[in-house]
Amino acid sequence: MKHFISTADWNQTELQALLNLATQFKQGLNEKTLKGKSVALLFFNPSLRTRTSFELGTWQLGGHAIVLEPGKSSWPLEFEFGSTMDSIAEEHVIEAARVLSRYCDLICIRAFPEFECWQDDRQDKVINSFARHATVPVVNMETITHPCQELAHMQTIQEKFCQFSSKGAADIQSLKNKKYVLTWTYHPKALNTAVANSSLLIASKFGMDITLLCPTNEYLLDERFIAHAKNNIKQYGGSFQVSHDIDESYENADIVYAKSWGALPYFGNWDEEKKIRDQYKHFIVNEEKMAKTNNGLFSHCLPLRRNIKATDAVMDSDYCIAIDEAENRLHVQKAIMTRLISQ
Ligand code: CP
Repeated sequence: MKHFISTADWNQTELQALLNLATQFKQGLNEKTLKGKSVALLFFNPSLRTRTSFELGTWQLGGHAIVLEPGKSSWPLEFEFGSTMDSIAEEHVIEAARVLSRYCDLICIRAFPEFECWQDDRQDKVINSFARHATVPVVNMETITHPCQELAHMQTIQEKFCQFSSKGAADIQSLKNKKYVLTWTYHPKALNTAVANSSLLIASKFGMDITLLCPTNEYLLDERFIAHAKNNIKQYGGSFQVSHDIDESYENADIVYAKSWGALPYFGNWDEEKKIRDQYKHFIVNEEKMAKTNNGLFSHCLPLRRNIKATDAVMDSDYCIAIDEAENRLHVQKAIMTRLISQ
């Protein structure tokens, strides 16, 4: 049984099949692939886009979505195995996963890191525990990666750079060696690395030349995702470099993707990290930087604090494709659910 936890578990052909199906849904395909099916949506963290697009997508496919918020509207859960449950958790993930599998045909999870210890967070314990004990497919709605966002991002890029067949299949060769810049941006709080990790995974899966622009080596992403990207590059082409030079990075970029994240060595020590982060507010994406690009596109997963991460002018420009990317969340998730339910 295949889950959708990380795109690292899916090859380019499989991902492109999902994207092609997403394009068909976007073009009006109206198949009730979830008729009579139910989907559990477990949100340990807030959401606007993910919740709306999953609930709506399930309904459009003829299914029924049930939203649960563990610790709020449903019981707080325990994830340690063998623990004596004498704290706040009323239920173990073992029972929760088994019970939800009896009711529902898919289980979708949003569970951000705890931000106390990256060595713990990088184990992605919540979603992996569900996958271990569920008997139905599990979908990642953002944990330490955000694979649904990845596919929406790639669908949006393909819409801008690729030709499409009459059946909605994209000519992905057009993406090879496009200059793709993932830029860190300032944010007053230390945020999740999930979208940044995902950006490396998906850009490298399609042979792009990736620049990871970040203020210092302390803001490098987890070695696991850099290693995945390098492996993808061996298989699919493209390149990977790290830069701390803003001008050099934006020069001739075809795509600029922005995200803020907290420095991994400072998990649990955020007051110290903030002293560093506060020095790099000038990483904001603005028109002056975008003018250095190759008429490049700009995107962001949203939500975005205007005039902190990107200026009003960038967000309101013709080259900003963030709203298209948000729309495409709906189409790719319908494709993912259709694919998983039919296995
Ligand atoms: N991009 C994204 O996942 O948005 P939400 O956090 O609003 O779901």
